[in-house]
Amino acid sequence: MILIKSKEEIDRIADACRIVAETIEELRGYVSAGISTKELEEIAEGMIRKRGGAPAFKGYRGYPSSICASVNDQVIHGIPSELRLKEGDIIGIDIGVYYKGFYGDAAVTLPVGRVSELAERLLRVTEGALNAGIDKAREGNRVSDISSVVQGHVESNGFSVVRMFTGHGIGKFLHEEPQVPNFGPPGKGPRLRSGMTLALEPMVNAGGPDVVVLEDGWTTVTRDGSLSAHFEHTIAVTGEEVRVLTKAG
Ligand code: MF3
Ligand code: CO
Repeated sequence: MILIKSKEEIDRIADACRIVAETIEELRGYVSAGISTKELEEIAEGMIRKRGGAPAFKGYRGYPSSICASVNDQVIHGIPSELRLKEGDIIGIDIGVYYKGFYGDAAVTLPVGRVSELAERLLRVTEGALNAGIDKAREGNRVSDISSVVQGHVESNGFSVVRMFTGHGIGKFLHEEPQVPNFGPPGKGPRLRSGMTLALEPMVNAGGPDVVVLEDGWTTVTRDGSLSAHFEHTIAVTGEEVRVLTKAG
């Protein structure tokens, strides 16, 4: 069942999302060669708690950390560790916040110093795919209109979309219906209605689409070792313009 939210509920989801957005914005300044992903996690958790929120991922289905930090060929769900960033890496940072009964969720992938042209293009194309998907999150469209435009944007740029994980409804729970795949033909799935709140999150590989989950049960890497990027926003479908709830500022 898809939970439709009132204007008041969307405003409260937006409060959780504002903490996510501000934390990501502040954390950007710390992403540089030499810092460990564990240090980034500690900083992020402090920022979330300072704003009265709680990290939504910690303990979720046994996930051990407050954020996901996925470096280079890690696609998603990288567990923060002693691993130190180095110049030329890319790092996906995924943050979920619980605040006063509601959830927000967003992710960015950031360059560490100067990165390769391929990495730069991968980041640009993945963020572009998210924005193209957001643009389709309009009342009357169907879920797979988002999926289809994301896949088209990615593949026309020579990259591939991950199939194994999807975007999702969000708000009263971290994961709600519907699933929002990043591939497939348009015109399928539930119709988008005003009051739906969705986390759209394309995961894009520079090589093939296949991924493998490591022994820790979480860390997901590309099967071919290619670079991967992930961008995510929580959005609300309204009768008018789509509201991007995790956008900073
Ligand atoms: N943004 C991801 C998601 O919505 C991150 C979840 S990590 C988990 O699925 F630990 F909470 F599962
Ligand atoms: Co998500």
